[in-house]
Amino acid sequence: MNILILGSGGREHAFAHQIAKSTHCSQLFTAPGNAGTAQLSENVAIGVNDFEKIKDFVIKKQIELVVVGPEDPLVNGIVDFFNTENELKNVMIIGPSMEGAKLEGSKEFAKEFMQEFNIPTATYQSFTKSEIIKGLQYIESTSPPYVLKADGLAAGKGVVILDNANDAKAELQFMLVEEKFGAASKTVVIEQFLKGIELSVFVLTDGKNYKILPTAKDYKRIGEGDTGLNTGGMGAISPVPFADEVLMQKIEEKIVKPTIAGIQKRKMNYKGFVFIGLINVENEPFVIEYNVRMGDPETEVVLPRIKSDLVNLLRATSNQSLDKEMLEIDKKAATTVMLVSGGYPEGYEKGKEINGLETTEGSLIFHAGTTEKDGKIVTNGGRVLAVTTLDNDWKEALKKSYQNAEKINFDRKNFRKDIGFDLKK
Ligand code: AMP
Ligand code: GLY
Repeated sequence: MNILILGSGGREHAFAHQIAKSTHCSQLFTAPGNAGTAQLSENVAIGVNDFEKIKDFVIKKQIELVVVGPEDPLVNGIVDFFNTENELKNVMIIGPSMEGAKLEGSKEFAKEFMQEFNIPTATYQSFTKSEIIKGLQYIESTSPPYVLKADGLAAGKGVVILDNANDAKAELQFMLVEEKFGAASKTVVIEQFLKGIELSVFVLTDGKNYKILPTAKDYKRIGEGDTGLNTGGMGAISPVPFADEVLMQKIEEKIVKPTIAGIQKRKMNYKGFVFIGLINVENEPFVIEYNVRMGDPETEVVLPRIKSDLVNLLRATSNQSLDKEMLEIDKKAATTVMLVSGGYPEGYEKGKEINGLETTEGSLIFHAGTTEKDGKIVTNGGRVLAVTTLDNDWKEALKKSYQNAEKINFDRKNFRKDIGFDLKK
């Protein structure tokens, strides 16, 4: 069948890598893609939110399966669009409907969902501009650190953690009154600070059945030792070494099962990935967020470990027959190291020539912000390349990712040298 991937990051290159291998894949397209997806599929110059153009393309190329990479088109209702347009009704599309996408698109919606289905999460209250006094009082009545979350999508910047009540109050005013994050901070969730170590669990669901995919841990801060500004993610490791059977059992029983049951009870049309961000507090898992898509760079370590045919799994997701599929996972660990443009996550330059790609050995190089210009591959974003390695031991895999990271060069290349630092005993 002909397949279309929407997106342009390392996540989408990793999807393309896995899908291109499938015997069920005839022609593969990526919109808009990058220089990496161009090597495995045909890039199409259509934006992920341009539903009408996507529709025309899907019809013209007789696409049977669409994989939506980022959250934006999901929150904007691309799945509902496909399900209501006559010519697209029979096209399989991976991702939740607009209602399901609220699990990521609205923190307040997600918190209410967790509360209704008894899913462990930090206690919270939410406030709008007219409730600012109550919000300030709530800060007074709780103890630090204070966790303030803009309700809507804020490009990963909507969570602010503060140690001091006065700073927290000022931040609440900034978010609600001055609309620091625009419409996204019209409502603010204030929640209990959870102290523990983070991990992410990925679930593929057809709305009834589910498969738990490999776990992963990502490193979001720009600086070593988890310092400095937040980024999209600077590296990842899968599986998470401390996610043993006991913890995974708890996660499945207390979090995954009630989440899928909630999706069913609420009659959400949800055929896609659920990315559950967790904090492990003394061996008890708590949900800090849902995302309704795969993570980036987590996908670059999760998908390469899936041995089963991904197209089969996605087809079963769409047909609601996931219970009949086997999920085979490689026992090897995977690590990825992100090479980023100097200056990222603040200002950076694009168009720097990338050299040395062909000198790397034993790693998968997933492109993120890259493009082709005059026959050369050049940088085209903050996160440029993800260097993924599989090995029996994650520390060996990481060593190889770093060896290859050194062989690739572009002006002002930057990467974190300490991925996994908190996992070494
Ligand atoms: P989010 O955008 O929800 O992933 O939050 C960004 C980051 O803030 C998370 O990766 C955590 O490191 C941190 N965080 C979010 N909620 C909490 C919480 N309740 N307690 C402690 N840290 C949190
Ligand atoms: N790496 C975090 C995310 O994709 O949201």
